[in-house]
Amino acid sequence: MLRPLCRYHGTEPKPHPRKEHLDMNETLYDRLGGRAGIDKLCDRIVELHLQNDVAGPRYQALDQEALDRARIKVKEFIAAGSGGPVEYTGRSMIETHTGMNVSAAEYVAVMDDIMQAMNEMEYPRPVCDEVLGIAYSLKGEIIHK
Ligand code: HEM
Repeated sequence: MLRPLCRYHGTEPKPHPRKEHLDMNETLYDRLGGRAGIDKLCDRIVELHLQNDVAGPRYQALDQEALDRARIKVKEFIAAGSGGPVEYTGRSMIETHTGMNVSAAEYVAVMDDIMQAMNEMEYPRPVCDEVLGIAYSLKGEIIHK
């Protein structure tokens, strides 16, 4: 008899090692580990941005207060945008990035940092793909503005 092929285990019925992130009935917020997971993820993303050869100079140019503020707003943005019980109190993506003339290369560099941080935290592929899809959908509001 043919058993359905699981994308993670072939035909092996053993539980996925990262099963806690895989319940598709949960919101993306839950699958990201709620506020604690999102805060940790964003801290790492900002850390990677600061070390990034392509996008780094944008973040290195901020003073500590501006960097702390951006970090807080990014956490809120992801928590609210992924379905969490949080209100985003920052500026819109167009408003924030207008005047920066962000390049496509910088955009890809920021997406790479997001994926690297997610891989380090061992989120499963579907969760990474969902975040990547959301980030990509914002491209038109962020580059060349
Ligand atoms: C999916 C991609 C991105 C998202 C979701 C995003 C989100 C955000 C958010 C929520 C803020 C804070 C808004 C506020 O201050 O009210 C912010 C600030 C900022 N973003 Fe982005 N961003 C993205 C891509 C980029 C890229 C590609 C760059 C350029 C390398 C960039 C550079 C900055 C900078 C420099 C700030 C601080 C602005 C300031 O303090 O005036 N962002 N971003």
